[in-house]
Amino acid sequence: MDLSFDGRVAVVTGAGGGLGRAHALELGRRGAKVVVNDMGTSLSGDGVESGRAAIVVKEIEALGGTAVADVNSVATTEGGEALIRTAVSAFGRVDVVVNNAGILRDKTFQNTGPDDVDPVLDVHLKGAFNVTRPAWRIFREQGFGRVVVTSSSAGFFGNFGQASYASAKMGLVGLIKVLAIEGRKYDIRANAVGPVALTRMTEGFENPLADRLDPALVSSVVAYLCHDSCELSGEVLSAGAGRVARVFVGMTRGYVNGSLSAEDVRDHLAEVFDDTGYQVPGNSLAEMELLAEMLGK
Ligand SMILES: NC(=O)c1ccc[n+]([C@@H]2O[C@H](COP(=O)([O-])OP(=O)(O)OC[C@H]3O[C@@H](n4cnc5c(N)ncnc54)[C@H](O)[C@@H]3O)[C@@H](O)[C@H]2O)c1
Repeated sequence: MDLSFDGRVAVVTGAGGGLGRAHALELGRRGAKVVVNDMGTSLSGDGVESGRAAIVVKEIEALGGTAVADVNSVATTEGGEALIRTAVSAFGRVDVVVNNAGILRDKTFQNTGPDDVDPVLDVHLKGAFNVTRPAWRIFREQGFGRVVVTSSSAGFFGNFGQASYASAKMGLVGLIKVLAIEGRKYDIRANAVGPVALTRMTEGFENPLADRLDPALVSSVVAYLCHDSCELSGEVLSAGAGRVARVFVGMTRGYVNGSLSAEDVRDHLAEVFDDTGYQVPGNSLAEMELLAEMLGK
């Protein structure tokens, strides 16, 4: 059976173009009422071209869907609250939040100044707090919610010139890990995508796969994560070009020695790095349990 979003209300941030637009169209096409948020910035977050969200609303309506535009900035607490108010006043509820808005201020670490750090953290990382927090209160009361954050391979694996961006993106992984744990008993699920798509953010980079990187292929993964039937929570999925794959932080069994010295570390790196029987702990307590097992406790 097709995954329908009839009766659900979805907020998609940064949905005036690129990936966010594709997510909004996909959710709208599947019956969700969509709040298309986009304040309309340049790639670096400067300037405002606020008509972009309204254009996507028209596109959703042309597909037979229902949507409303919102031009608040996700980078402020007030903006996030106003955005969730838009959803509630337009549609009476909110069920899904897709945190997608983003900017880029790439610099080598050597050249990174405060202006390249704060705005990036404000939009990507704090933006997810600003928008998800007011939605969370509603999710808990109604006993249902879906949160998706947009992370990046720059955070999972590192990328030259993206210290602030990568930090923000990996911060989002920590956020959904905790939201997954705290939301479980309210049927609130929180997951991350690490997209690969051709948008204005990536069109400047030479990429032999460019013609395969339709943002809509990422939206299929986002739509699944937003659906009532999705049981995943606290997971990170890489999505692009039609491929979807799990990204995870795992832990080797490691080396244990009750009187561990620096020399022991040096001499046992092979065991430290041996990934036979590695684990992916479900929470930080699970690490303690593995340690207890290895210590025979
Ligand atoms: N394109 C990729 O391959 C790729 C890879 C990894 C991660 N991402 C992430 O995907 C997300 C979408 O990026 P995209 O590639 O579609 O780029 P994009 O520049 O087309 O989209 C970002 C949108 O966010 C909006 N925005 C920026 N600041 C905002 C704010 N404060 N409030 C509201 N809206 C704001 C912009 O106006 C823009 O429309 C970003 O978080 C980006 O970091 C993209």
